[in-house]
Amino acid sequence: MSDQQAQKQAAAKAALSYIEDDMILGVGTGSTVNCLIELLPQVKLAGAVASSQVTEDKLRALGIEIVDLNFAGQLDVYIDGADEVNAHLQLIKGGGGALTREKIVAAASNKFVCMVDESKRVDILGRSFPVPIEVLPQARSYVARQLAQMGGEPVYREDFVTDYGNVILDTYDLDVSNPIALEKELNNIVGVVCNGIFAANQANVLLKASGSGVETIT
Ligand code: 5RP
Repeated sequence: MSDQQAQKQAAAKAALSYIEDDMILGVGTGSTVNCLIELLPQVKLAGAVASSQVTEDKLRALGIEIVDLNFAGQLDVYIDGADEVNAHLQLIKGGGGALTREKIVAAASNKFVCMVDESKRVDILGRSFPVPIEVLPQARSYVARQLAQMGGEPVYREDFVTDYGNVILDTYDLDVSNPIALEKELNNIVGVVCNGIFAANQANVLLKASGSGVETIT
């Protein structure tokens, strides 16, 4: 097993301590979350709100009841991974394309616990990982031109459609030095459904795994 995979598993194991008996848990998407899902048979959930169809299918396969967010009320805890995280626990997410549903479930949760391996920690977001932007299909070219005017280099994610039937522009070279401002600015472009900057609602707890263990940062 690679060091990175071992770190993902260690972060996922640490996340178990945020799960209480009989809660409805918000569950994110991605390879780190998959490590958590494998551990969920160890806990007693009332159900789960899934942040993607992929996660929903994996949870169902374990016999975990899927709850519609509209009937779940405010969740206590949402657990997910990230593509990048800075010192303020602001994130870039959406490498797996589930950013919109992830942002909704995160917003509807009191505590967002984010699990990462050490490779995800950066000083400034967006320098190496692009900002994924979910766009209505008809608006793709228009939004791409707006992003280019902002200095970004949008790359259409080929052969990918989101759970909501939209497309993704992975956008390089945006200035993410003020993540809250940029998150808002991107949301204001007509045709943008959601963007992968999680700064207005950042993570509340970061479980950062490295070769020397898992550090909890709040
Ligand atoms: C999916 C996401 C994931 O949380 C992010 O891509 C991290 O994935 P992984 O745990 O596989 O590194 O935002 O849309």
